[in-house]
Order: sequence, then C-alpha cells, then structure tokens
Amino acid sequence: MSTQDELKQQVAKAALEYIDDYDMVLGIGTGSTVNCLIDLLPSVKNRIDSVVSSSEASTERLKQLGFHVKELNNCGTLSLYIDGADEVDSHNRLIKGGGGALTREKIIANASERFVCIVDTSKQVDILGAFPLPVEVIPMARSFVGRELAKLGGQPTFREDFVTDNGNWILDVNNLKIIDPKGLETKINNIPGVVTNGLFAHRGADLTLVASASGVVVQD
Ligand code: A5P
Repeated sequence: MSTQDELKQQVAKAALEYIDDYDMVLGIGTGSTVNCLIDLLPSVKNRIDSVVSSSEASTERLKQLGFHVKELNNCGTLSLYIDGADEVDSHNRLIKGGGGALTREKIIANASERFVCIVDTSKQVDILGAFPLPVEVIPMARSFVGRELAKLGGQPTFREDFVTDNGNWILDVNNLKIIDPKGLETKINNIPGVVTNGLFAHRGADLTLVASASGVVVQD
C-alpha cells in the first residue's frame, strides 16, 4: 500500500513529462502536492527559463532552489500551469483553495494555455462539494457575503487566524449542492465583496494526473 505522501511524490514525478519545451515560463500552484513537484524541478531546470508562482509560500520554496520567479504582469500567456486540487470530478472541474491561494491560482490558470492538475485518488469525487468551498472575501464584506452564501443554501465558516496573500479573508462553505458548478461559480463571484471562489469550472484543468496504488492515470 502506498501512503498518500508517496502518491503525491508519484504524481509530481509524472507531471515533469509535461514540462517538455525549452526555456519555458512555467506556472506553479500551491500546496503539499505542488511542493513535491517544486522539489523535483531542479532535475528539469534546463527546460525552465523562469516561473510564475501562485503564492508567497511557493515563491519562497522556488527561490530557495534558485529559480527565477517572475511577475505575471511581465509575462504573456504561459504555456503550462501545474497545480493540485482539493476535489476533482470526472470533467476536470475542481474545488481549490484549501491552502487559501485560490485567487492567484485562478488568475494563473486562466492566463495559461494548458492547466495540468496533479492529485491522488482521495481527491476524486462524483459531485463537487463535500470539501467546504473556499471563498475569498474583502474583510469589510465578510458578514454580508456570509448571509448571501447562506441564501444559496451554504453554511459559511470564517477561517480563523488566516489572511490571504492578498490581505483578504476566507469563508469555507459547507453543504452546497454543486449540481451546476459553472452556474454556482458565477453566482458566488457576483456577490459584491467576493474576490473569487474556489470552484474551477469555467476554467477547469485540461487534464488531471491521478495517482493511485496501481500507478498514475491521465484523466482528460
Ligand atoms: C491551495 O490554495 C489549494 O488550491 C491547493 O491546490 C489544494 O488545496 C491542494 O493542496 P494539497 O496538494 O496540499 O492537497
């Protein structure tokens, strides 16, 4: 039996194959699975010109390994973005933001031609929503947004002692029945005070690499 950490290592290793151009500007996500990938990146350093990072935590780790971390504003469209997820369905729609980096992750995913998601089987679901949906909010709008989310049937909880890299707060929303991920993503993003929510349905992954005890499978 593989442990979850071993599966994260395996899927991170499998993702290296997708870094297949030379002098690539690579988009890098956030989280424990991506940390495994970052730690392997020195082995393909000759193919990477520079990176764009989705969080201060990933930036720090990348810089420690000697990578040149660029501002997204100084790059055009990225050819590849690699990131993890908290949940993935069979259409490569995702819930992200368990680590609180959802807004920068969504920006970079949308600014990239290809988004490769890396997960282990524990993240696969039939219907999104068992994982509480993270919503980044402007601090002064927290209570208002919470009431609006409750009208949508959710139970929002304030993520205590957490401030995003953008200086905002997170509401984690339980009990949402996500039968229309794109519709809900739009509806929540339209609440004034919401910066973005962790549904990645309009721009899901182009493919997901899923690690299980029997190997890594490509879901596209
Ligand atoms: C960070 O905000 C998240 O979107 C992560 O991508 C997600 O939580 C997956 O993280 P792990 O790889 O640590 O499970």
